Amino acid sequence: MNEVLNLPRRLRRLRRSPAVRALVQETRITVDDLIAALFVHDKEGPPEAVASMPGVFRLSVEGLVTECQALQKLGVKAVAVFPCIRPDRKDPQGSYGFDPQGLIPRAIGAIKRAAPGQIVITDVALDPYTSHGHDGLLNDETGDVDNDRTVAALARLAVLEAKAGADWVAPSDMMDGRVRAIRQALDAADFTQTCILSYAAKFASAYYGPFRDAVGSKQAAGSTYLDKRTYQLNPANAREAMQEALLDEAEDADFLMVKPAGPYLDILYNLRQRTLLPLVAYQVSGEYAQIHAAARLGWLELDRVRDEALLAIKRAGADMIITYFAKEVAESLQR
Ligand code: PBG
Repeated sequence: MNEVLNLPRRLRRLRRSPAVRALVQETRITVDDLIAALFVHDKEGPPEAVASMPGVFRLSVEGLVTECQALQKLGVKAVAVFPCIRPDRKDPQGSYGFDPQGLIPRAIGAIKRAAPGQIVITDVALDPYTSHGHDGLLNDETGDVDNDRTVAALARLAVLEAKAGADWVAPSDMMDGRVRAIRQALDAADFTQTCILSYAAKFASAYYGPFRDAVGSKQAAGSTYLDKRTYQLNPANAREAMQEALLDEAEDADFLMVKPAGPYLDILYNLRQRTLLPLVAYQVSGEYAQIHAAARLGWLELDRVRDEALLAIKRAGADMIITYFAKEVAESLQR
């Protein structure tokens, strides 16, 4: 006879079979959790690979539309679209962003025509359009991003995106007071139904590297590192992140976002305890790239790590996850 411990409580009873494991599972990723992040550029023709993000491409407007239709078929209900603007169109003011016939307004229009129910989310920030790569207008004297002039510009940009058909506008710039200003501008222009998805707790993170490559803001900044620490949060500061997020709630944001996601699960969890708003997490380009890089070396199993990373983000409190994995996860959920 084997020795039997006197152990009335044995948690392994709940892990014995696939059936019992499924029944006690607390968190699951479904297609309703996923928001696809997509890049569009002003070129015709085939998709252009983003070197540091395997499987991610800069798409033509036509390619973007086809992708949105495919995503909609898979049940992915929202897309976040980021523009990659030709360098010769950039200037210090980001003027091209305000062209009603510009790339993003055209892209939004094309998606809304081809995939009407699809929720289109657009970034409200100037970095795709500025020759210096910063999210706002620079103050001539200090060289720093000028908060209040930038807020006024962002409010105009948000209205332009709403006019083009964006369902949710997403300020990703981290200026003070921009959610309130954008809400007022949208309402004054009769866009009372346009949502504001605020990048509420956005950190000055090195995980944005591949994204900056994809949209060309890194190239715009040249050889110097694009330092956004005067507006994005210090990765060391959790209390300050709560203040940022709660201020955006007070300014009537519809959704609050934490970004990056994986390395900031404490922020997500903490914010979940403090707000009743829906929470969005952005699994950023660097989180995607590092999973792919390790998988390429044969050091991690791509699908399993991908699924575990998303599950952890949901478990920490995210209602929705913006991710570059959206399509492949939606596909795998159908199998
Ligand atoms: C900038 C913006 C960034 C991302 C989304 N919007 C980068 C930055 O702040 O430089 C990063 C997304 C990612 O890394 O996937 N407005």
